[in-house]
Amino acid sequence: MHSIHTQVGIVGAGPAGLLLSHLLHLEGIESVVIEAHSRQYVEGRIRAGVLEQGTVDLLIATGVGDRLRQEGLLHHGIYLSFDGRRHRIDLTGLSGGRSITVYAQHELLKDLIQARIDAGGQILFEAPAVSLRDLDTATPAIGFRQDGQLHELACDFIAGCDGNHGMCRPSLPEGRLAVYERLYPFAWLGILAEAPPTSEELVYGYHERGFALFSMRSPKITRLYLQCPRDEEIANWPDDRIWGELRTRFATSDGWAPAHGPIVHKGITEMRGLVVEPMQYRNLFLAGDAAHIVPPTGAKGLNLAVADVRVLAGALAEFYTSGRRRLLDQYSKTCLRRVWKVQRFSWWMTSMLHRFEGDGGFDQRRQLAELDYLTSSQAAMTALAENYVGLPIEGC
Ligand code: FAD
Ligand code: PHB
Repeated sequence: MHSIHTQVGIVGAGPAGLLLSHLLHLEGIESVVIEAHSRQYVEGRIRAGVLEQGTVDLLIATGVGDRLRQEGLLHHGIYLSFDGRRHRIDLTGLSGGRSITVYAQHELLKDLIQARIDAGGQILFEAPAVSLRDLDTATPAIGFRQDGQLHELACDFIAGCDGNHGMCRPSLPEGRLAVYERLYPFAWLGILAEAPPTSEELVYGYHERGFALFSMRSPKITRLYLQCPRDEEIANWPDDRIWGELRTRFATSDGWAPAHGPIVHKGITEMRGLVVEPMQYRNLFLAGDAAHIVPPTGAKGLNLAVADVRVLAGALAEFYTSGRRRLLDQYSKTCLRRVWKVQRFSWWMTSMLHRFEGDGGFDQRRQLAELDYLTSSQAAMTALAENYVGLPIEGC
């Protein structure tokens, strides 16, 4: 077996793993990233699109924001559409000048991968981690496969950044983690269409037939989502049905509608809330989707991953400069305070905007009253705005 050594062994080249590796490099700390899939797969996977102000600021401040600044779409508001009308929420005006930026997650991953490679960083693609050992010693190790051979990465610390279906979370000894979970009884059908966005800002739509979301990726590409049943088959959604349903759910008196165009991607996303506590065990630290999942209605998953690794990088920097574990020991507690607030916000947005099977006239009227209150109360809009543009990151 071939063995290599580094200071921090990182499992997963998603936003959490790659950004952690980048931040550690800036602190003079060496890391190796192990990724199960190919570079091409990682750089092509369609996922998130909304970056909080704090995420954008961090990327720019650490030198990986050039393309984001040029190609990212700066947004100062969002629309809520219900009962035949669209209402704008002035995010920037209500949050003391903050905003969000629409920039595809896979474009961000391309930027982070390039930055690591340019700096001589090591990312091992097509190298799935298969085992973790000696987590409670000063010399833990990650077993991984590459080119049909078993290898080992020995390190001081392991960062489990391998997402919702990774192997780090289940590698903890029995009984060490509490898992808090909520499965939502519906999913999202997401499409990318070659059609110019007809609104400069996102539109979150509530309708008696279910939720719909209008977003975008570029001046030529529209991103759209529709609430659909859980365990739905894409085959049940031919293009005509998708456009018809979007037209119905977004119908408003101002006549606004998304433009049609060839659909170039379709996918189903389940809706889940999950948090594991604590997010650390001895020398293993979980970050991003490996530690928590939020339903995408609040656009928070990627941003939470960024917040975690920011805290973790700061804690590791303290350890390597002073030998102290104070921040490392507090990692989970620091992150979880924010994670639960974001979980709450994502649950609230999801509950307010989706149709729940079995809900009757009472619940629909209550949801409409909540949306009516939200869009007419400065206090309620301010609460939405400060959460949507991103809560502050503590502990770093
Ligand atoms: P991931 O991105 O899942 O990365 C984990 C990596 O680990 C993967 O590359 C995987 O291949 C690798 N891996 C897994 N197992 C192993 C192994 N054994 N060995 C080695 N590598 C392994 N979030 C937002 O903030 N805003 C949004 O607008 C938004 N929209 C979304 C829309 C959709 C349709 C979806 C699906 C998600 C959305 N999210 C959004 C959530 C966001 O995409 C995730 O929260 C984010 O990808 C989490 O990053 P991560 O690095 O923790 O995990
Ligand atoms: C997206 O553009 O993919 C997106 C936007 C807002 C969300 C979720 C996803 O809440």
